[in-house]
Formats: sequence, C-alpha cells, structure tokens
Amino acid sequence: MRDLSLHLLDITRNSVTAKSTEINIEIIEDIKNDLLIMTIEDNGIGMDQKTIDRVLDPFFTTRKTRNVGLGLSLLKANCKLTGGDLEISSAPNIGTFVKGMLVLSNIDRPPLGNIAATITTLILSEEKFNLSFIYKHDNESFSISTDEIQEILGDDVDIKDWSIINWIDSYITENIESLKKA
Ligand SMILES: Nc1ncnc2c1ncn2[C@@H]1O[C@H](COP(=O)(O)OP(=O)(O)OP(=O)(O)O)[C@@H](O)[C@H]1O
Ligand SMILES: [Mg+2]
Repeated sequence: MRDLSLHLLDITRNSVTAKSTEINIEIIEDIKNDLLIMTIEDNGIGMDQKTIDRVLDPFFTTRKTRNVGLGLSLLKANCKLTGGDLEISSAPNIGTFVKGMLVLSNIDRPPLGNIAATITTLILSEEKFNLSFIYKHDNESFSISTDEIQEILGDDVDIKDWSIINWIDSYITENIESLKKA
C-alpha cells in the first residue's frame, strides 16, 4: 500500500509536467467529519472532457514511453477503498483541480507518509513554479509558499540550497507533528 505522500508527489508531478506556474496543495484532516482531504490545484495546460473521462482508466495515458498511466487511478482506488472518492475538474489552458477524499479512521486508509519529503522533492524540480502548501488539522493550520520564502531569502540565496531545503523539511515535519498533538 502506498503512502499518501507518494500519491501526492505523483499527482503534483502531473501539474508540473502540465507546465503550471502556480500549484496549490492542501491537506485537511477533518477530525469531526472523519475525513482526510487532499487537493491539488494547478494553472497548467489542463485537460479536455475526453481526457478527463479517460484519465481514471488505468490503461490511459498521454505518455509515449509506456501506455499505462496509473497515478490518478491508483489514488482513486485507494480513496474508494476507504469509502471515499476522487474528483477531477479541469479545463484546457485554465488548469486542473484534483480532490481526493479518504475516510480518516478507515483501516484501509494509507498513512500520510513523509509529506515534508514530497514537498522538498517538488521544490527541487527543474521547472519553475510557485508551490503553496496548506495543512489543516481541525481548525488549526500552517502554510508555506515557495515564492514567499524566496522573497524573504532575497537574490543571494537560492531556495534550493541544501540548508534551506533542510530547514523547510524540518519546518513542515515539526508543524504537522505539533498540529496532530494539539
Ligand atoms: N494536472 C494535470 N494537468 C494536465 N493533464 C493532466 C494532469 N494530471 C493528469 N493529466 C493527464 O492525465 C494523464 C494520466 O495521469 P496519471 O498521473 O494517471 O498517469 P501518467 O502521469 O500518464 O503516468 P504515471 O503517473 O503513471 O507516471 C496524464 O498523462 C495527462 O495527460
Ligand atoms: Mg502521473
């Protein structure tokens, strides 16, 4: 069973491949409604209706290197296994919105996994884009945005420097830990 952090990496890489310049990731642990919601929103090339209809079919992909695309259909399968579901909405040249909903307490729900590693891996992508990440646990939340961090760092320090990446990694890990404890 794959961790949700690996699903998140996979789905967000789709957004990067789709030439997005803005990518918003939100993870919501809604204890009251027993839901874990993961949304990925981008402003990339988007998909037409035909592609959306086929995208959840594991034997469809626009990749040329192999003919099975699994990212979205695997996440959908995992969502459904818990009693949840996956929704996609997209429009060509506007962007794509993916929302995975999982029942938090369901025994088949994959663990969150290493979210900090997923976010830092995405930040280290070759492609240039602003990544914003929000994590909510009940009524509390924290967020980061790569453009904001880069602005604070100024021109002399690159967000991809290992010391900054390390700091972001600990920042995310510690914040998730403390929200879970609260
Ligand atoms: N955010 C997105 N923007 C535009 N097109 C997308 C996006 N996400 C998915 N797609 C389209 O849906 C197809 C299926 O995506 P999916 O992640 O399921 O498989 P894949 O990326 O093709 O292969 P895999 O993820 O298994 O390496 C993609 O090939 C792409 O055409
Ligand atoms: Mg993919």
